[in-house]
Amino acid sequence: MKVLLSSDQIQARILEMGQQIAADYKEAEPHLVGVLKGACPFMTDLAQAIDLPLTLDYIAVSSYGKATKSSGEVKLVKDLDQGLDGRDLVVVEDIVDTGLTLNYLINLLKARGPRSLKVAALLSKPARRLVSVHVDYVGFTIEDEFVVGYGLDYNERYRNLKDIVVYGA
Ligand code: IMP
Ligand code: MG
Repeated sequence: MKVLLSSDQIQARILEMGQQIAADYKEAEPHLVGVLKGACPFMTDLAQAIDLPLTLDYIAVSSYGKATKSSGEVKLVKDLDQGLDGRDLVVVEDIVDTGLTLNYLINLLKARGPRSLKVAALLSKPARRLVSVHVDYVGFTIEDEFVVGYGLDYNERYRNLKDIVVYGA
């Protein structure tokens, strides 16, 4: 499959993102919320790139529907372990496609009273957006192609690839 983003490119960009987040949160302790399972490698590498005290938690959602299309209905599969009251939240996502998942998550998490909420996504596919969502930190903006690797799957496979590749290409 065609390599879209090599491991080296991904790691270099995550270092920059981590430095930017560290600069933005000098006075606060960010609480990173990773979206399982796709964001796991990104969450791990991003957290290590942020040179600040921080805390982590994970949430899992699934969209009803087929593997490569989001139906728009989102179901909470695993909730957070910790409350969010007064915390400075950074939602960490693998990819923003239609935006429906992130839109659902932002509404769910905002209702729990965080002091602030920002979003970091490794990838964004703006051409496919159905709802507008603000992403504060974007790793890479990509074309409308289905990609796998570095956490991203097709039917649960390919999450373990170090590079991000175009599925089927
Ligand atoms: P959205 O709700 O359409 O923004 O979709 C977000 C979710 O769909 C992501 O968290 C991924 O799990 C999945 N997804 C969207 N595009 C891709 C892709 O190109 N490869 C793998 N998963 C994708
Ligand atoms: Mg996902």
